[in-house]
Amino acid sequence: MKIETTGTPATELSADAIVVGVFAEGSLPPSTAAVDDASGGLISKLREQEQLEGKSNELTPLLGVDGIAAMQVLVVGLGDAESFGHGEAFRAAATAAKSLSAKKLDTVGFFLAEDSSAEIQQAAIAGTVVGCQGQDLHRADKKQHPFDTAQFPFDEETLTAGQKIGEAVNLTRRLVNEPANRVYPETFAAAAEEIAAASGLEIEVWDEEKLQTEGCGSMLGVAQGSDKPPRLVILRHQGGAKDAPTLALVGKGVTFDSGGLSLKVGGSMDNMKCDMAGAATVLGAMQAIATLDLKVNVVGMMGCVENMPSGKAYRVGDVLTARNGKTIEVLNTDAEGRLVLADVLSVAVDEGADRIIDLATLTGACVVALGLDVAGLMTNDQEWCDAIAAAAETCGERVWQLPMFEEFGEQVKGAVADLKNVGNGRWGGAITAAKFLEEFVGETPWTHIDIAGPSFVEKGKSWIEGGGSGCLVRTLVEVARRFA
Ligand code: BES
Ligand code: MN
Ligand code: ZN
Repeated sequence: MKIETTGTPATELSADAIVVGVFAEGSLPPSTAAVDDASGGLISKLREQEQLEGKSNELTPLLGVDGIAAMQVLVVGLGDAESFGHGEAFRAAATAAKSLSAKKLDTVGFFLAEDSSAEIQQAAIAGTVVGCQGQDLHRADKKQHPFDTAQFPFDEETLTAGQKIGEAVNLTRRLVNEPANRVYPETFAAAAEEIAAASGLEIEVWDEEKLQTEGCGSMLGVAQGSDKPPRLVILRHQGGAKDAPTLALVGKGVTFDSGGLSLKVGGSMDNMKCDMAGAATVLGAMQAIATLDLKVNVVGMMGCVENMPSGKAYRVGDVLTARNGKTIEVLNTDAEGRLVLADVLSVAVDEGADRIIDLATLTGACVVALGLDVAGLMTNDQEWCDAIAAAAETCGERVWQLPMFEEFGEQVKGAVADLKNVGNGRWGGAITAAKFLEEFVGETPWTHIDIAGPSFVEKGKSWIEGGGSGCLVRTLVEVARRFA
């Protein structure tokens, strides 16, 4: 999709459609007011008759409006003017784009967020890019069609930045939506190679042999049941000064989670191609950080394995030795994500990371605690966690912190080995998992983000198709921007 700047007023733009916004109360935004005037007060009348309320993401298509050059005026609700921010701009544009993309359109003009900051405008552009992309990757008959051209009355710099962010979110979504017979550790690494070459990132890929010599026994334990060999992908963006601090982004990349010998039952395996969403989120964020050329030092680390049962698979009761020397008794082969992250986190620490964020579809328990739309935050450093929560708040992405009380840590202390990979029973499972991870980050300020709920949503929303959501890519970009 081409994204272009336009100086033509909304009323005169000859496009298949123009999109304008209406707040729940107060005066109409400039382009909306112009459309209202040119059409003899159509929007005002609809509002008076309460056919148009301006509620968030409400859509009102007006076809063949007198006085308007475009074929269609799509009015999108923006909600309360006071609370209009990145998230609202993103979702309003995405809602309009998703609806319009049901038909093949050449040109659509978006006249939203005109009076907003460049960052909010970028969010609107990103929303447009995300909204018109579906999950029907392998359907001949697509349900959604990105427009040939989307036009915005914003400057070039804002346009390219917004497009880069939107494309990064879509990259994450696409990788999550690809099935596990297409995206597995080697192909994930190949995708990362391509992105690194295209966006100027340094890349290093550790294969089995290297993982072996590096002592990544925990990650290798998970990998050994699969015919697909594991990969650790390391991407570096050196945008800051040599001595500037390094931010490490670590992602769980379980390309398929069958549970291993502790096999998943019922329908609980159905969506487990999504179990590499953490790694895909890191890859998406790294692409955006590099192409936006942010003046920061960021390293992205993605631990990619497939968790399968087989004659070679790791067993319940096996003891693994992690890279930092700690021994782990495996009491459930389905608690594999923490075993992968254990080693990757210790690589991040040794790499000299000053701050770490890990992202993982780690526990069903986190989904029970917070639902499908909210990611869980767990940390060893309150300030670092607050910084991430603040960035998410700005972006309009939902996160909520869970406590890391010491008592939870007792549950992952082992009888046979230093640690065991599950707590005592299911209660507090998101936290006991985080307590396990904490054993591998040393003193480095670290925040774990459990994205098991929001990273993959079976049911779509008005603003996004079901499947991979690309959640928190925008937040990570914001964190990196503030890290500079
Ligand atoms: N990948 C799953 C967690 C998950 C669940 C992700 C639902 C997305 C949606 C993880 O590897 C897992 O299986 N966790 C277990 C841990 C348990 C065995 C301690 C779980 O949550 O049941
Ligand atoms: Mn599992
Ligand atoms: Zn998993």
